[in-house]
Amino acid sequence: PKQPPVVFSWIPVLGNAVQFGMDPITFLQDCQKKYGDMFTFTMVGKRVTVCLGADGNQFVFNNKQNLSSAAEAYNHMTKFVFGPEVVYDAPHSVFMEQKKFIKAGLNSDCFRRHVPMIVKETEDFFKNYPKPTGLMEAYSTFGKLIILTASSCLMGKEIRASLDDTVADLYYDLDQGFKPINFIFPNLPLPSYRRRDTAREKMAALYSSIIQRRKADNDNSNSDLLQALMDATYKDGTNIPDHHIAGMMIAVLFGGQHTSATTSAWTILELAARPDLVKELRQEQIEKLGSLKTDLTFENIKDMPLLDAVIRETLRLHPPIYQMMRRVVANKVVCEKNGFEIPKGNHLCAAPGVTQVDPTYFNEPLKYNPYRWIEKTDPVHQLEQGDDANIDYGFGAVGISSNSPFLPFGAGRHRCIGEQFGYLQLKTIMSTFIRMFDFEIEGGKPVPKSDYTSMVVVPEHPSNISYTLRE
Ligand code: HEM
Repeated sequence: PKQPPVVFSWIPVLGNAVQFGMDPITFLQDCQKKYGDMFTFTMVGKRVTVCLGADGNQFVFNNKQNLSSAAEAYNHMTKFVFGPEVVYDAPHSVFMEQKKFIKAGLNSDCFRRHVPMIVKETEDFFKNYPKPTGLMEAYSTFGKLIILTASSCLMGKEIRASLDDTVADLYYDLDQGFKPINFIFPNLPLPSYRRRDTAREKMAALYSSIIQRRKADNDNSNSDLLQALMDATYKDGTNIPDHHIAGMMIAVLFGGQHTSATTSAWTILELAARPDLVKELRQEQIEKLGSLKTDLTFENIKDMPLLDAVIRETLRLHPPIYQMMRRVVANKVVCEKNGFEIPKGNHLCAAPGVTQVDPTYFNEPLKYNPYRWIEKTDPVHQLEQGDDANIDYGFGAVGISSNSPFLPFGAGRHRCIGEQFGYLQLKTIMSTFIRMFDFEIEGGKPVPKSDYTSMVVVPEHPSNISYTLRE
């Protein structure tokens, strides 16, 4: 039994952490050339076995729960942000139930109400921008907008209403405890860590008071996720305690906020460099809806293949979560494809950020070309779907294969449940934005490079868009 090759490093303990931290994609591509699709490197005392290619994805995402665990890779840090007894701090089967509740709360009825809310938030948000021309910084602008849209759709009207004051500060303090550095130092006696803990406690108390108020007022008029969780019960018949609801709401906020913010910023930046695509997108709206003035709805926004392809292509080139970790909890796991044995304690790392720009699967992989998803001539489309495509992981994610090289939402039992909402939100915002503005990157600069030092991959900032209001 052989172990995967080990990446050379001059520095014990720290290992290749710096290279990985600064430009992980290049680092992993270089290692792949030297060592193949599976290799182990050291990062601050952790042994990380990287599993690349479609087979690597399959191995990591389809591993049995008793062999490798997401909780063991993430919980030491997420428990401080989400709180106790939810997500990775809950037993796996309970977390899967919690996921099912969240997924059930993100249904077509809600989506139907969400679209006009997102349109209104977007129009109101840009209404006060200087006219007729101006500059906006891509990531910070869309980060702010997504907080508003996601809060009104998911967090509830009470939270949305307090966003201008208290809640914004709580979000900010929590966010400061959700950085890559927190994986290495999850808890230190420092002010930022104390502020994070206080913010989490205040968020939990705030949710609790909102829940109590809704109950006292018999207020059943809400179509948000909070209400869905209030109305759910665990399998054993118990109600979901307030602090679980608060924890899940915070987890959803963190699952959906930065991912959608960076995806919308990257989409706008890619489109800013491609006026031809913006024109085609407007044309698509005109063809499907009759004009650019027709109200956007859940029904009509579903049927926009080019817009879908634009978002998908952004997620291919700029996946917000470019790598995902599990920790080996069995004595060893064996990869059937190559016979490698990975010992207990190692982390397994899948890296869609690498496979999604691999020429084995995508023609001209670095080119932003949404039409590849319509023409379907890339090698990725010849790949057979895996057997696991029909496994029910317990939260309703059936039919998603884990041996695809394209996995911006992960795969298997930990797969994202926010994909549909994410697409809906991004498509609605983009459609509204291109109705309102003509835009280009300031000074005709190229699309910015990636900054890997945040929790998600963000465009190097400042990256300004210069806009002109349309009639
Ligand atoms: C899981 C990406 C939006 C909630 C994941 C995972 C990825 C991902 C890659 C898998 C993590 C892993 O396997 O380790 C994204 C992207 C989004 C997005 C790219 C938007 C463009 C959202 C939204 C929500 C959400 C809007 C909430 C409404 C979750 C949850 C999980 C998850 C609850 C499950 C984690 C687990 O089971 O371990 N997401 N996400 N995500 N996401 Fe998302």
